[in-house]
Parts: sequence; structure tokens; C-alpha cells
Amino acid sequence: MNTNLQYIKLEQSHVTPEQLKQIVSVEQADGIENAYSIEQIKNIYIEKETNVNFVCIDSSSNQIIAHIATNPLSKRRNGSIFVINLVVSPEYRRLGIAQNLLFTAAQHYATLGTTLPISITVDKDNLPAINLYKKVGFEIVEPICSADEDDEQYILVSSLENLHNKMKSLNNSKTK
Ligand SMILES: CC(C)(COP(=O)(O)OP(=O)(O)OC[C@H]1O[C@@H](n2cnc3c(N)ncnc32)[C@H](O)[C@@H]1OP(=O)(O)O)[C@@H](O)C(=O)NCCC(=O)NCCS
Repeated sequence: MNTNLQYIKLEQSHVTPEQLKQIVSVEQADGIENAYSIEQIKNIYIEKETNVNFVCIDSSSNQIIAHIATNPLSKRRNGSIFVINLVVSPEYRRLGIAQNLLFTAAQHYATLGTTLPISITVDKDNLPAINLYKKVGFEIVEPICSADEDDEQYILVSSLENLHNKMKSLNNSKTK
């Protein structure tokens, strides 16, 4: 386990310009066309006050190296916590950081007593992400409302309880 990694909730009122810049660097590291711009990250992390967002910081360099942004008021599935985006810097991948961010967000909502499911859309050709979500307990489901429909993406859903149980069993198998 990398003890230099810290998972932190970013409160909208405390986000600094430097943190926004670091999140954009994480977003744009793969050089893909549809990566979020600084304006979009500002909207997600500061202007949308109801979003709930977490980052992973490498405390040895004090850099944000991964982030997850969630919207608890999404119309997806006729009401769910929607994962807006989840990205890990390329050099930190396959260390369990994405799954830890998902569990951190799920734990936060469970502590608040939220009973909504958590949903995600993912491009049908994004195998790393599909594998990740299946590993932590998400299932591919059919669209049930217009907000869900997209021929190029899967929608995946999990209950918070399911994620919690998965986290426990993955942690148990690690310590055996
Ligand atoms: C998808 C992504 C978030 C995964 O982040 P990560 O921190 O590397 O994922 P984890 O280390 O937590 O991996 C957990 C599991 O996901 C699956 N997985 C992750 N990367 C994978 C890959 N490249 N190939 C196959 N499976 C992969 C594996 O099952 C892995 O478990 P294992 O390492 O025990 O086999 C990361 O690759 C990324 O940022 N991609 C670009 C942005 C993106 O596509 N985000 C998702 C948008 S919906």
C-alpha cells in the first residue's frame, strides 16, 4: 500500500486555482479530445454547489493525481448518484486508486444515509473502466429513461450497500 496517498473531499468553497490546474492536468494527461477543460472543471468543482467531489493526493509531491466528481441529484435511472468523471494519472494506474475513490465516495453517501443507487456511463470500448466498475460490483443495465439513452455508452449501476460489501471482501482477500 502506498502510504503517501491521501483521499480528500474537496469542498467547493475551498478549491484553489492551483488545485483546479492539477485536476485539469489529470484530466488531460491522456491527450484525449473530450477531456474536460479548465472551465468545465471549474463548473463541476466550484459552481455546481451540490456536487460531491474527492481527489487523491500524493503527499510526497503534494500533487493531485486522481479525482472523482459526483452529482447526487442526477436524473439518471430516474434518480441516482451519478459519477460525472473518474480519472487517475497514467503513472499511478493499476494501484487500486480508482476503486478506492469509488469506495470513498460511496462511504460518504452511505454515512449520510443516502439510499439512492450510484450510476455511471462508460464508452462501450473503454475496457479498463468497464472492468473496474464490474470488479467493484456495478452491473450493466438497460436505459429506463431518456437521460440514460446513448448507443455508444453503457450505463452501470450499483447500490451503495453492494459497493460497501465488495470493498469489505476485496480488503479481506488482500489481508489473507
Ligand atoms: C479507468 C481508470 C479510472 C482506472 O483507474 P486505476 O486506478 O488504474 O484502476 P484500479 O487500479 O483501481 O483498478 C481496479 C480494477 O479495474 C480493472 N482495470 C483497471 N485498469 C485496467 C486496464 N488497463 N485493463 C484491464 N482492466 C483494468 C482491473 O480489474 C483492476 O483490478 P486489478 O488491478 O486487481 O486487476 C483509469 O484507467 C483512467 O483514468 N482511465 C482514463 C479515464 C477513464 O476512462 N475514466 C473512466 C470514465 S467512465
